[in-house]
Amino acid sequence: MSVRRTAQGHLRIALAIAFLAGALAGGAAALAQGSVDQGSVDQGSVDELAALKDKFRRPAAIPFPVSNPYSAEKRRLGERLFHDKSLSADGSIACASCHERQKGFSDGRVTAVGVPRRALARHTPTLWNLAWAGPVFWDGRARSLEEQAAGPIIAPDEMAQPMDKLIARLAARRDYARAFARAFPENPRVSEENLKQAIATYERTLVSPPTRFDRFVGGDASVLSAQEVDGFRLFAGKAGCANCHAGWAFTDYGFYDVGLESEDRGRGAVLRIEKAEHAFKTPSLREAARRAPYMHDGSLATLEDVVRHYAGGIVDRPTLPPDLRRISLSESEQAALVAFVKTLTFDGDPLPSRAIVAEKSQALPAAHVTSISQHDKMFTPTRVRVKAGERLWLLNNDTRTHNVRVFDDKLDFDSGAQEPGETVEIAFPQTGSYLVFCGIHPKMELNVEVVR
Ligand code: HEC
Ligand code: HEC
Repeated sequence: MSVRRTAQGHLRIALAIAFLAGALAGGAAALAQGSVDQGSVDQGSVDELAALKDKFRRPAAIPFPVSNPYSAEKRRLGERLFHDKSLSADGSIACASCHERQKGFSDGRVTAVGVPRRALARHTPTLWNLAWAGPVFWDGRARSLEEQAAGPIIAPDEMAQPMDKLIARLAARRDYARAFARAFPENPRVSEENLKQAIATYERTLVSPPTRFDRFVGGDASVLSAQEVDGFRLFAGKAGCANCHAGWAFTDYGFYDVGLESEDRGRGAVLRIEKAEHAFKTPSLREAARRAPYMHDGSLATLEDVVRHYAGGIVDRPTLPPDLRRISLSESEQAALVAFVKTLTFDGDPLPSRAIVAEKSQALPAAHVTSISQHDKMFTPTRVRVKAGERLWLLNNDTRTHNVRVFDDKLDFDSGAQEPGETVEIAFPQTGSYLVFCGIHPKMELNVEVVR
């Protein structure tokens, strides 16, 4: 299947979440205090810790695509559909049967089990914090949450329900007909399109709750133990975990081979790029302590096993990315990493926030340049304007292999593997707005406006 991106990535309506405000209000002043529980710390390491914390601050807003903006009615309908077992052929399972909130929206199994009671090929991934994701599924074969939603319903191994039958059944129910009409006043129908939009809207609001770690970032140094702070430093420093588990959700939503023994080709089979063989989507580590076992094949039973894998169990092969550091970690360093990862899991029942406030994002001005840098998994600049007929030059001045793509009715472009040092040239013959992105690191986005 090809990787196709619609205009959804372009402009985004952002929704501010009220509960996030609390996590942000801690104040920068308190940050400078650093880790008081570590005994005497010199000023250099305090500053370094403050800078580190800044990289993991929670955002104040959830991004929603322009093509499917947020509404409370849509979310409510999506939540109901997500929990409704009548979406499956024999009425035995709902989305929530495999994606259980108390189990980190996973299911506690090695690999999932669907309607025919057969084990599926892959482990059930978490659904926390997917509003920020690019393509979804372990191999990114669905461009968006909207596209993904129909997959499990119709898959014979999962809910095994033909879509037209399901839509007809839901439309015949007065309660559902009313709920769809309220959620989609401009197009008040029980339709596949509306069902997918409602489920995707619900999923985007599954933002994991602030934990002890967020209080630490907010300035309360006493909430983490010395061991947990050590784990944080290792995670963001020597162990290199944050190369991929970056930012507040602890993922860059990119695809990497982390050297598991599985034969699964992952992203390689989707992109048809050798360098992407065995690469899978980096999961958010929020709420990870609740959702053992781990990885796309469910092959690692505990967080201790995961860290042990990174500390020496990596299978050597040419597709291992430069972001994966081959380092040795002592027993106590491994324990500190595990302790730290556990601080990203909420202590009580992890409910997503219900208090959602709409806020608009601002578009950055477009630069008039034709050369783009790709350093550090980022296009720079991120927004450019060129004349129709002009070319853009994208230079991979990064250490990583990239895959430059445009998927548009007017322009279909796939660079294949773009190795470090290689330049890719794209001609834009027609006016319009285009999204250029990387198939391996899909959060690398470049918006191109082509004008006369
Ligand atoms: C039988 C168990 C099962 C059911 C039922 C199920 N899922 Fe999943 N879900 C999975 C598995 C397994 C995967 C991973 C498949 C893959 O990546 O190839 C997955 C992947 C996903 C993903 C991608 C997550 C990511 O991080 O990329 C989303 C979103 C999702 N499911 C939503 C849903 C929705 C919505 C429903 C109901 C319409 C649903 N699932 C029903 C097991 C299930
Ligand atoms: C090169 C990028 C990269 C680096 C570096 C990295 N990870 Fe991962 N991590 C991933 C990917 C990709 C997966 C999913 C792999 C799979 O299923 O094949 C993953 C999975 C995990 C999981 C399991 C999550 C789940 O929901 O199953 C944990 C926990 C984890 N990593 C922790 C760490 C820690 C701790 C470190 C540092 C020692 C680290 N990672 C370093 C990319 C990375």
